[in-house]
Amino acid sequence: MVTRIGVLTGGGDCPGLNAVIRAIVRRGDDEHNTVAVGFRNGWQGVLEGNPQQLTRDSTRGILHRGGTIIGTSRVNPVDSPSGPERIAETLEVHELSGLIVIGGEGTLSAARRLSDEHGIPIVGVPKTIDNDLGGTQFTIGFSTALDVATEAVDRLHSTAESHNRVMLLEVMGRHVGWIATYAGIAGGADAILIPEQPFHIDRICRHLKRRHGSGRTFSIVVVAEGAVPAAGTLDMPDYEHDEFGRPILGGIANFLGPQIEQRTGFSTRVTILGHVQRGGTPNAFDRVLGSSMGVAAVDCAATGIWGRMVAMRGNAIVPVPLEEATRELKGVPAGMYEVAEVFFG
Ligand code: F6P
Repeated sequence: MVTRIGVLTGGGDCPGLNAVIRAIVRRGDDEHNTVAVGFRNGWQGVLEGNPQQLTRDSTRGILHRGGTIIGTSRVNPVDSPSGPERIAETLEVHELSGLIVIGGEGTLSAARRLSDEHGIPIVGVPKTIDNDLGGTQFTIGFSTALDVATEAVDRLHSTAESHNRVMLLEVMGRHVGWIATYAGIAGGADAILIPEQPFHIDRICRHLKRRHGSGRTFSIVVVAEGAVPAAGTLDMPDYEHDEFGRPILGGIANFLGPQIEQRTGFSTRVTILGHVQRGGTPNAFDRVLGSSMGVAAVDCAATGIWGRMVAMRGNAIVPVPLEEATRELKGVPAGMYEVAEVFFG
């Protein structure tokens, strides 16, 4: 008998999503006699109940493509009281045994509530360039974003050197600084500002002056978009909010650049990488991770292992409770930041 499974991608897109979709279709068809049914634009498609069948043909040639062929959105099904009911109805009408939900913290937190409180059968797949989901070592998309950010640091080095400048590079990272920390270490940054380690602007400027005083002619500073000053040290401008009530981040570097220039007297330039980090073709790691997680997710769904997220643990992909994945954001451990600090000199 054929088992039908719904698939959606929610939240911000990232490279590697199409690898997951392709893997769900192939593995399901080969091993489990499942049919994958895609919903457009995340939870919105499930709420509206308009699925499209995903076939070997419709998912051919998508492995190397960025974004998601089924679209995404930040619509949250538990925001409205009738949402969970409508999701259950869609499952029933389209004879789906459950959903594979590919998402970040927002999408999978909604998945956990639908699973725990409303009994909707769900398997989660962790994706976000921010790498902030618990339970898994890495999320799909992080590695490619890191490559893009590291290349940016490398490119800024040569122009910084030529002009004796401070270069401030802003990368994504709303609540956590994984991209900033890893790109900073990989690119040899002289200071890294992340949300987990509130910064002191005066200390950073003293550090840059000391560095230049000892003969260095340039500095590279990487800042995560969600970095925060230590309490009482700097008044930050307010952010506007999007239609989902989230602050629209992106731009902290525009504020900090002039602050650094004023305090140090060094010519300072700002680069904001923005959505370039999220777009484009996935690197090899994200293609492999996406493929492996897609296979694991459909294995779970086809064998009735629900309420779990597939997670990377060492070399294995294993199911972990959705609750564990979404309990708290996974920040950069202090020990990893200390590694970065070794090279700030
Ligand atoms: O996917 C997470 C993320 O990349 C954050 O780092 C960033 O703040 C956010 O998405 C921006 O998303 P958008 O501009 O699509 O709302």
